[in-house]
Amino acid sequence: MEVIAVKNEQEMSEKAASIIAAQITDNPDIVLGLATGGTPEGTYREWIRNAAGLPLSRLQTFNLDEYAGLSPNHPNSYHRYMEEKLFRPLELRSGQTHLPKGDADDLQAEARRYEQDIQEGGGIDLQLLGIGENGHIGFNEPGTSFDSRTHIVKLKPSTREANARFFDDKEEVPYHAVTMGIQTIMESRHILLLASGTRKQEAVTNLLEGKINEDFPASVLQNHPYVTIIADEAALSGIS
Ligand code: F6R
Repeated sequence: MEVIAVKNEQEMSEKAASIIAAQITDNPDIVLGLATGGTPEGTYREWIRNAAGLPLSRLQTFNLDEYAGLSPNHPNSYHRYMEEKLFRPLELRSGQTHLPKGDADDLQAEARRYEQDIQEGGGIDLQLLGIGENGHIGFNEPGTSFDSRTHIVKLKPSTREANARFFDDKEEVPYHAVTMGIQTIMESRHILLLASGTRKQEAVTNLLEGKINEDFPASVLQNHPYVTIIADEAALSGIS
């Protein structure tokens, strides 16, 4: 794993956006795996700010996850987040962007369909990841099998708590989500993981120095041949 140490969140976002832009320029047919949450917001801002001249019409995107039960129009859905923070500003067409449908009648079938779409799209070239304080990647909580593919997960109370900041009322945070599995994520050709702030210090220390085990899902990335971590001083402050 390559670690790029930066000063703060802004530098992390600029660096991540420049890596994404360079890869789009190199391969306009790129398949991007995208994340939501607080961490990539600055990256999306920088990407949009520097989008002039980027060949965006042929790329495809697949998001990591979506809350179960939320329709694409729900203000807290990841569909809505992506539309507002990236897809609309970049004027991507709806056929270019993919997220699991959280309000599908048969969520198991939806998870299988989504996994199949990723495979049929040729797999992910560059996967953007954040990291949960408990080591989750996507919504793969501690204990998830490293062999998992897109599936339905029950969110840990700590994850619901951490994400309550995006909801008006913490009771509204869904209990379940659909997420790419760990195996799905591991098949990405390049993984770009971002971490900033002291809140992520313990997780980043574990990721870089801990043992590989299913109780800390992100540790699996130590087995991946091409991972780039961009982390700021605060997130790296626990490294010996
Ligand atoms: C988001 C996702 C999650 C987040 C993680 C960190 O699509 O899959 O793994 O990356 O929960 O969230 P933030 O960035 O809000 O700290």
